[in-house]
Amino acid sequence: MKMRDLDPASLEPADVYALLVGCVVPRPIAFVSSLSRDGIPNLAPFSFFNAGGANPPSLVFSPVTSGAGRDKDTLHNVRATGEYVVHISPWPLRERMNQASADYPPEVDEFVDAGFTKAPSVKVKPWRAAECPIAMECRLFQIVQHGDGPLRANYVIGEVVYFHIAEGLLNGLRVDSTAIDAIGRLGGPMYTRVTKESVFQLPRPTTG
Ligand SMILES: Cc1cc2nc3c(=O)[nH]c(=O)nc-3n(C[C@H](O)[C@H](O)[C@H](O)COP(=O)(O)O)c2cc1C
Repeated sequence: MKMRDLDPASLEPADVYALLVGCVVPRPIAFVSSLSRDGIPNLAPFSFFNAGGANPPSLVFSPVTSGAGRDKDTLHNVRATGEYVVHISPWPLRERMNQASADYPPEVDEFVDAGFTKAPSVKVKPWRAAECPIAMECRLFQIVQHGDGPLRANYVIGEVVYFHIAEGLLNGLRVDSTAIDAIGRLGGPMYTRVTKESVFQLPRPTTG
C-alpha cells in the first residue's frame, strides 16, 4: 500500500479537523440536552463521543472551541450547571437532530425549534427529549481542555446517573443495539445507519 505521511504540526487546524473526522469513523452521536445558567434549554449533537468505563458508567464528548475561538453553548451550560442528558437519536430523528446543530443564539429554546418534546429528568435538571429511545442523565466529572488554539478539544467527562431506555429495545438488562436504528457520523455531511443487514458477529477469540 502506498502511504502518504502527514505531520499535523505543518497543517492548518481546519485541514487537521477534516483529516480526523474522515479517519475516525463511524462516530456515535451524543445528542446533548443542557440548561443555561438562566434555565434556557439547549440541544446539540456531538460525534466526538464515546463511553469509557462502566464503574461508574462514564461518557465523554467534546464540544470543540470554534475556529473563531468561541466556546459552544453546551460547554458553557455544562460548566455552569454540571448536569446534562446524553440521548441516542436514531434514523427517524436525523433531520431534527441535525436542525439542533444550527448555530442558535443562547436565548433560543432548541427543543422548540428542532421539534422535540421536553420530558422531566429524574436526577438532573436538564430536560430529556421524549422522542429519543435512549437518554442518559449525566453529572459532570471533569472538563479536560487539550490545546489552546482554535478547534481545540474540550473533553466533557461525565457519570451516567440515570438511564431511560425504550422497553422495546430491552431484553432483561441487555439492549438490542441492532433495534435502535442508530446513525453514525462519517466525514463531512456523510452518515451511516446501523441496520440488521449491516450488522455482523465476531465472537471474541480464545487462546487455546
Ligand atoms: C451529527 C453532528 C455531530 C457533531 N459533532 C460535533 C462535535 O463532536 N463537536 C463539536 O464541537 N461540534 C459538533 N457538531 C456541531 C454542533 O452540534 C454545533 O456547533 C452546535 O451548534 C453546537 O450547539 P451549542 O452551541 O448549542 O452547544 C456536530 C454537528 C452534527 C450535525
